[in-house]
Amino acid sequence: MILKIRKYGDKVLREMSTPVEKIDEEILKILDDMVETMKNAQGVGLAAPQVGINKNMFVLDVGDGKIRKIVNPEFIEISKEEVENEEGCLSIPGIYKKVRRAERVKLKYLNEKGEEVVEEGTDLLGRAFQHEYDHLKGELFVDKISPVAKRLVSSKLSKLKKETEKEGGN
Ligand code: CO
Repeated sequence: MILKIRKYGDKVLREMSTPVEKIDEEILKILDDMVETMKNAQGVGLAAPQVGINKNMFVLDVGDGKIRKIVNPEFIEISKEEVENEEGCLSIPGIYKKVRRAERVKLKYLNEKGEEVVEEGTDLLGRAFQHEYDHLKGELFVDKISPVAKRLVSSKLSKLKKETEKEGGN
């Protein structure tokens, strides 16, 4: 089932998510629906708050032939070295800006079978880990762009926020 993607201005995107206590049928169904929704929108990643659910989980398709379903992620290593690259977000359509992120991270999480996985991410995977993890803390990539870039997108963001509010997205 394709879920509604919440857009910039929706308060659910700004709330803190909470850990998943048990990977039960309901959680598995949401993860499947999130994958379907991400594919339909041709996204690289989708976090639970983006479909209105404040739970610590996200799905990823970084194009390496592996769809990741990530539950209760936690960084166990974050490199000091940073790299800058362009990002976008399904909740912020039409805006793409450069964001500085750690070059390499190590993420510990549970997969959909409840198995603990530790995975190192660089390049797109490392970036996606960090971008999606931020969603679980109520943070968006536009919070992290340079002041100049922020000024450039501020009217687009206000317009998006107004549209979301008009639509009744809380
Ligand atoms: Co996003």
